Amino acid sequence: MAMKNATQQVVRALESSLTRSLHASPGSKKIVGVFYKGGEYAGQNPNFVGCVENALGIRSWLESQGHQYIVTDDKDGPNCELEKHIADAHVLITTPFHPAYVSADRIRRGKNLELLLTAGIGSDHIELPAAAAAGLTVAEVTGSNTVSVAEDQLMRILVLMRNFLPGHHQAISGEWDLAGIAHRAYDLEGKTVGTVGAGRIGKLLLQRLKPFGCNLLYHDRLRVDAALEEELGAAFEEDLDAMLPKCDVVVLNMPLTEKTKGMFNKEKIAKMKKGVIIVNNARGAIMDTQAVADACKSGHIAGYGGDVWYPQPAPKEHPWRYMPNNAMTPHISGTTIDGQLRYAAGVKDMLERYFKGQDFPEPNYIVKEGKLASQYQ
Ligand SMILES: NC(=O)c1ccc[n+]([C@@H]2O[C@H](COP(=O)([O-])OP(=O)(O)OC[C@H]3O[C@@H](n4cnc5c(N)ncnc54)[C@H](O)[C@@H]3O)[C@@H](O)[C@H]2O)c1
Repeated sequence: MAMKNATQQVVRALESSLTRSLHASPGSKKIVGVFYKGGEYAGQNPNFVGCVENALGIRSWLESQGHQYIVTDDKDGPNCELEKHIADAHVLITTPFHPAYVSADRIRRGKNLELLLTAGIGSDHIELPAAAAAGLTVAEVTGSNTVSVAEDQLMRILVLMRNFLPGHHQAISGEWDLAGIAHRAYDLEGKTVGTVGAGRIGKLLLQRLKPFGCNLLYHDRLRVDAALEEELGAAFEEDLDAMLPKCDVVVLNMPLTEKTKGMFNKEKIAKMKKGVIIVNNARGAIMDTQAVADACKSGHIAGYGGDVWYPQPAPKEHPWRYMPNNAMTPHISGTTIDGQLRYAAGVKDMLERYFKGQDFPEPNYIVKEGKLASQYQ
């Protein structure tokens, strides 16, 4: 019986995907975008396109073709702006920075939905199996902000390794206490740095770390080819649990999936060296929130830095705001002005192709014809 239901579901997904996702239905479209608010900063830089007010810089282009473009930051709760517009939207553009969680229920309410676009990288805020079953196409702007994130990770590694934050705090608060900084400030040279995930961002980080004279390790589902491995100067570690105790610094660079959710729990953290530095710009929910806070408090983790939380925006009482030795910020690394310009251009390119019934660049697809991209399976 269960088997029969599963088969029926797959058939339905395939049928609806053929009708709903291959091409745009004819006529003008309603496009809804959910971005963070620019407020007083919106007018300060014409390239600040990632905010609600500047709406990826595509409003006049869309409206000149007769499409309707609604943009909001109001994404949560039954009375939010997004809910008002989801019922007749054809395209929903969301972003990981201010994620509109696209649940199976929301997808059901979006009866006209054909396309879910992520302005950026990482579509884990969308219930992907539900999108696949509903025959929607999900795509993101693969590669758009990978450099932005790799540079940020390098910065956070250095900030934590050098114990920069208490020093800066002293500078602005009128103190002068060298010992309070120096007793736990180290050079990065000679340290072992391991990345968990060596896809686009992981490889860029390894390239950037090479001149620092570190011992570089990587763990991934897939081993990169030997020539690239040599160029990166990083050794493959097939067994994550064998890599973790070797690392002075662990950086997370894999997507949030059913397999990686909560992966770094108390037990995994206990496998790491006492005094490890962790940098996570991948996704907050890959970590067990409380286990990280406890390990920072006990000193097992000497520093935890990153820009991703669950949920987002992080509530005032989120324990990572208050744990010692954290280098946390709001979700910012992939939304530099350069990153915004690249993901805005990528969204425009995909909309143009969608209107013309053309395919997207293959690496952008997260759900296509009822099937999830391999990194999300
Ligand atoms: N903070 C930000 O602003 C920001 C911006 C962009 C991306 N990201 C996050 O970074 C992630 C990585 O981005 P990317 O462009 O490098 O993606 P990618 O797809 O190029 O690389 C991901 C890598 O993770 C590996 N992987 C997947 N599951 C794994 C597992 N269970 N164990 C080990 N390895 C696994 C894959 O094989 C792949 O090599 C994104 O999914 C997103 O969540 C964050």
